[in-house]
Amino acid sequence: MLRKVEIIGTGSAIPKLRVANDDLSKIMDTSDEWISTRTGIRARHLAVEETTTGMAVEAAKHAMEKAKVVPEEIDLIIAATVSPDRFFPNLSCEIQREIGAKHAVAFDINAACSGFLFALNLASTYLKSGVYQTALILGAETLSKMMDWTDRSTCVLFGDGAGAAIVRASESEEAGGILSMVQGSDGAAGMVLNCSNRPANNPYVKNDTALSYTYMNGQEVYKFAVRTVPRAVTQVVEQAGLSMEEIDYFLLHQANYRIIEAAAKRLKQPMEKFPTNLQECGNISAASVPILLDNVNSAGTIKKGDKIVLAGFGAGLTWGAAVLVW
Ligand code: UT7
Repeated sequence: MLRKVEIIGTGSAIPKLRVANDDLSKIMDTSDEWISTRTGIRARHLAVEETTTGMAVEAAKHAMEKAKVVPEEIDLIIAATVSPDRFFPNLSCEIQREIGAKHAVAFDINAACSGFLFALNLASTYLKSGVYQTALILGAETLSKMMDWTDRSTCVLFGDGAGAAIVRASESEEAGGILSMVQGSDGAAGMVLNCSNRPANNPYVKNDTALSYTYMNGQEVYKFAVRTVPRAVTQVVEQAGLSMEEIDYFLLHQANYRIIEAAAKRLKQPMEKFPTNLQECGNISAASVPILLDNVNSAGTIKKGDKIVLAGFGAGLTWGAAVLVW
């Protein structure tokens, strides 16, 4: 019997504080006009009381509730993040503790904005092989703490939040499931989007380096995105044995509305098939795709049997795409 792997529940959480473009223009040299015409972003939610772990736990609880899964059933937790609250213990172990998933193996991955796709691929490989039955995968970020708030070219673009999905192996005829996945990395081009770790500070180094914040060469990342996303989506749809017209929805990483429009144009698909939430959330790196997935799932936009493409791209450089039947 063919072992399928399907997403059976989704959840998300974003911080309470909503910061509109006009709010930012009061504290830095920017404008709603610049941000919204270049990116489509109108607001983002920023963590004040919230933490990466706290939002991840909230998203996980929603996903478990929707999937009707209890914590003891979860065998595997993979959280994708570039902004955990701690270096260790890892975010996944913190989530495990908070939700009481005492039987799970828990570890994090870092593939930046492709992180959720990488987590899905990894979980799917474990589940397909029969090692585990039920996984909780997440993307969770507090990117606001990694921004240089004096650099208007980056800080206006990003937001905070978490998205989660319960993924389960099934042998049922009725089950949907993942049809195909592609992934890629290009470390050689990686420094166009980077954030360094703490500098060495042992007694043998003289160090007066300041903490590093997010650096992005926006135009290079833009070119990479409009080249890579349509290529990865074409590849993954072909591997699924489908035509582009058969795909009901394309859920792409929410970095820039213009990137999504460019991808839609190259794929010759109407924008109605590309739901977005970047207007309200900005770019939330690994959390962007799972939050959008939860938005369209909760709104009833996607229905059982729909064919959906998920795609992420970002620092590394990395990219990933998947086709699934809902
Ligand atoms: O998840 C990671 C993936 N990241 C992305 O996908 C981001 C991809 N890149 C982009 O989306 C675009 O490159 C940006 C939206 C980041 C920037 O748009 P752009 O059209 O490439 O602008 P630019 O960097 O060429 O800057 C144009 C001008 C500059 O002024 P001058 O030198 O022409 O006078 C900037 O200083 O816009 C200025 N600028 C701003 N002005 C007002 C940069 N940031 C701002 C700002 N407000 N926030």
